[in-house]
Amino acid sequence: MTPLSLLGGITPEHFLQEYWHKKPLLIRGAIKDVGPHVGFDWLAELATQDDVESRLIEFNKGQWKLERGPFRPSRFKRLPASDWTILVQNVNHHLPHIDELLWRFNFIPYARLDDLMISYAPPGGTVGPHFDSYDVFLLQVGGQKRWQISAQKDEAFIEDAPIKVLQHFEAEQEFVLEHGDMLYLPPRYAHYGVALEPGMTYSIGFRAPSVQELATQFLVYLQDRVCFDGRYADPDLRSQPSDPAAIGDAMITQVEGMLQRIQWDHATVGDFLGHYLTEPKPHVFYDAPDDPLEPDEFARQVATAGVMLDAKSQILYRGEMLYCNGERLEVDAADVSLWQQFANARKLAGQAFSDTMTEVLYEGYLSGYWHIGNSVA
Ligand code: SIN
Ligand code: CO
Repeated sequence: MTPLSLLGGITPEHFLQEYWHKKPLLIRGAIKDVGPHVGFDWLAELATQDDVESRLIEFNKGQWKLERGPFRPSRFKRLPASDWTILVQNVNHHLPHIDELLWRFNFIPYARLDDLMISYAPPGGTVGPHFDSYDVFLLQVGGQKRWQISAQKDEAFIEDAPIKVLQHFEAEQEFVLEHGDMLYLPPRYAHYGVALEPGMTYSIGFRAPSVQELATQFLVYLQDRVCFDGRYADPDLRSQPSDPAAIGDAMITQVEGMLQRIQWDHATVGDFLGHYLTEPKPHVFYDAPDDPLEPDEFARQVATAGVMLDAKSQILYRGEMLYCNGERLEVDAADVSLWQQFANARKLAGQAFSDTMTEVLYEGYLSGYWHIGNSVA
């Protein structure tokens, strides 16, 4: 593996071995070329949209205040000069250069990459001392923010606050981040950022579902797939004259045996993960083309110009099984490696696609899952 400048010149392997889930890493000048300036106005505009998750957090007279978007534009005209933060989730879905920035972190498997959130804060803006349940890279873009961090084990949050703020925070290390500096924090590492000069934090977040969430979703997945014949039967039923309300052991044993027919293996779990991990978040909608091409014209154009995934789309695979946006893709064995290439690079150069691949590409194009064209040289 090659060293990455965004990791301060260490290799992804070294980073994963030494820091990932283990200890913080401050990288000065990690990413300075962040593309077009996003700025407050851009974020505020995104925060007015229905399909964008946003929050406004204020700390005023000792009280935390949380408002959730979508906001009316007028809300942003009556903000004080200091002490607030606006946070917009999944900005990568809405701005191509932010999407491009997120995929620079592709040294982490896509199954673990979540989103790029942007916060903007004037001086004094903070979301308070807290910890997150997942790893995060905090990239400073413009301005200055002071970060205090702590490996403390005291995880008690203030009661009755609308956001999770630690009751007792004891800073162990302090850094002032300037444009391009980035701080990596492992899960549950306490941190407290306060803006010193107006600026943004780009948070590259990772996906770490709780066991409860995985179990619940797996049961939902299984529910749609179990298919059994047979029915409860008790030809040897005995009367229970003294306790007719009791559930008998024989009944329990029989049902226990029936439920043991629900089985799964490695492949089932792989198939579940393919569906679950590519399932779009509830607020995500794909934009179908307004005036779609006819299949023949689509085939001609895609063969020349190639195809690129929409920023909101995800293709993951396990061997020959490919999953896109919560569905399994019907893929011919001969096309598997090309589809895998598409999943990995998120784009494909124009080429002579097979008829079946062109058909599936056309279906996805109609759904807005991907678009014609790519920037492959
Ligand atoms: C921020 O952007 O200020 C907060 C991000 C975080 O702490 O996770
Ligand atoms: Co945090």
